Amino acid sequence: MVKCFSSGGRPVFPMGGQVHNSSAYSADGLDRALLALKAMHANAVEIPVYWEQVEPEEGKFNFEHVGDIWRKIRDEGLYLILLWFGTWKNGTAKYVPEWVKADGERFARVQAPDGTTIGVLSACGVETMQADARAFEALCVYLKELDPNKETLIGLQVENEPGIMNGPARDYSPQAERQFQAPLPEQLVHALRVNPQSQISETWRRNGAQTSTWETAFGEFAQEYFSAYATATYIDYVAARGQKKYDITLYTNVWVEYHRFRMPGLDYPAGGAVTRVLDIWKWATPHLAWISPDIYQQTRQDYMTVCGDYMRQDNPLFVPESGPQEWNARFLFEAVGRFHAIGYFIFGLESLVESDGSPSPGCIPAIGSMRALAALSGALPFWQEQKIEVVFQDEYAVYQYIAFEGWTAVVRFTTSGAALGLDTKDWNWHDYRHKDYLAEQMKTNRRGRGLIVQTDTDEFVVAGDAFRVWFVSSAQLRNEPYAINGSDFCAVRAIAYRSVEEGTFDRNGLFTPVVKRNGDELDFGVWVDDNAPVVRARMWNS
Ligand code: DGJ
Repeated sequence: MVKCFSSGGRPVFPMGGQVHNSSAYSADGLDRALLALKAMHANAVEIPVYWEQVEPEEGKFNFEHVGDIWRKIRDEGLYLILLWFGTWKNGTAKYVPEWVKADGERFARVQAPDGTTIGVLSACGVETMQADARAFEALCVYLKELDPNKETLIGLQVENEPGIMNGPARDYSPQAERQFQAPLPEQLVHALRVNPQSQISETWRRNGAQTSTWETAFGEFAQEYFSAYATATYIDYVAARGQKKYDITLYTNVWVEYHRFRMPGLDYPAGGAVTRVLDIWKWATPHLAWISPDIYQQTRQDYMTVCGDYMRQDNPLFVPESGPQEWNARFLFEAVGRFHAIGYFIFGLESLVESDGSPSPGCIPAIGSMRALAALSGALPFWQEQKIEVVFQDEYAVYQYIAFEGWTAVVRFTTSGAALGLDTKDWNWHDYRHKDYLAEQMKTNRRGRGLIVQTDTDEFVVAGDAFRVWFVSSAQLRNEPYAINGSDFCAVRAIAYRSVEEGTFDRNGLFTPVVKRNGDELDFGVWVDDNAPVVRARMWNS
C-alpha cells in the first residue's frame, strides 16, 4: 500500500485547512477556524507550534497550550497535524525564541558574500541545530504522553518552508564557507553513485564526477545544491531526534520554485526541497515520510507540474497548503484524482468564513469542493486500484466524455447552458430541496468539477459540484445507438439503474446512503452540487 497518514493504525485521508499563522498562541484563538472546518465538513486541521512560545527561556519548556489545542481538536472529532515553526518559517527565522535571536555568536546567521548577516539562521550552525532538536524532542516526548496511539495527532511537520529567503543562494558565513570548500560528504558521494539516473548525478558526471569541493563537483549548481544538502541534513537530524521519542509520521513542506523568475533566495527559499534539488533532499532525509509542496499555482498547467514533481515512487503527493480561490476549487481534484494525493489542505481557514460561519463569498467554490472530498475521504485511502477520473470544466465547456471500462460517462456542465441563456429554468433537474441551484451556481462562480470513480464493473461514485452525468454502456451503444444518440432528454431516460443514492463514506471506506433518487430526480442524469456532493450510481446493465 502507498504510504499515507494513519490514525490508531487505520489509514486516513486528512482534509481540511491550516489556521492563520498567529492563531495558535492559545486554544481560544481557534474558534473561527473551527467554523470554517465545519463549513467544509473537514476531518482534519493543521496548527502551528511556535518554538518561541514553548521554550521562552533556554531549557524551560511549557507545552500546556499545546495540550489545550490537542484536547479541543480531539473533542471536535478531528485529526490534527502540528507544524513545528522552529529554525525556519518561510525561509526566515521569525519564530525562534528571543534568546536565540539575541545570541548571534552561538546561533550563527546566514551571511551574504559581503559579510552582512540576514534574518535567517545558518543551516551549518551546529549549536542552533542542537537547540532546535532538543526543543522538538521535548515536544515529541510531551505529545507521546498525550496521544500514544496517534488517534488525534496524525503527523508533525518539521519546520515550515525551510531555506534562505531574501538572501543569497547559499550561506557565506565562516562555518558554511569551510564546508563549501571541503570535499563532498561521503553520504552524498555514495548517493550520487547509486542513483546514476538522477539529474543531480548527471550534473556531477558532466563535471567529471569530482569530489574535492562543491564547486568542482557541481559547477554553476554548487551553491543551491550545497544549501539543499545542509538544510536537509539539519532537518533530518531534528526529525530523527523527535522520532526516537515518538514514532509518528514526519514530513516537511516546500515553497516551490515555480514563482516569477525561479531564482533561489529571491523567488523561493534557497535550500528548500524544490524540484531541482528534490533528489538531494530525498537522499538526506530518511526520517521524513515524505516531502510536500505548498501549491498556490494559478494555472492548471503549473499546478499539475508541481503535483507531478512531488508524486514519485519514493514520495506520495501530500498538499499541506493551497489557496482558497476558485481555481484551487477545480485543481484540487487533479491532485486527488490524477496524482493520488494522500491528503489536502487549504491555508488560512479563518478567512474562508464570515463570523457567523457562513462561507465568505469568494470561497464558496473551494468550500464546495472540500465538501466533496470530505464525503469521499473515508474511501480514498482504499482506492488504490480503482479508476478515478477528473471532471474539469474548462471555461465555456458544455460536455466532457470520459471512457471507463465498459462505459462512457457523458458529463454535462450545468452552468454552461445558463451562460448561453438556455436552461435557465431548473424546476425539475434537481429536486425541490435544491430548487435554485442553477442561479446559485452562476452567482457564486462555480464551474463543474469533481471526480468519477468506477468502484465496480457496474458501479460509479460521482463527486463534485455543478455537473450532471449519465453512463452509457458499450452494450447499449452497440444495441440501441438511436436511443443514445438522440437528444440528451431522451438519452438520459434510456439509462437504467439498480439504485442511485446520495451519501458519504465512513472511516472504514463503507458507503452510507442518505437520500435515494429516482424518477424526475434521476431523469436528467446523476447530478451533484455542494449540498449533495457525492452520489453512488449502481447501473442496471441488461
Ligand atoms: C506559506 C506558509 O507556509 C504559510 O505559513 C503562510 O505564510 C502562507 N504561505 C501565506 O500565504
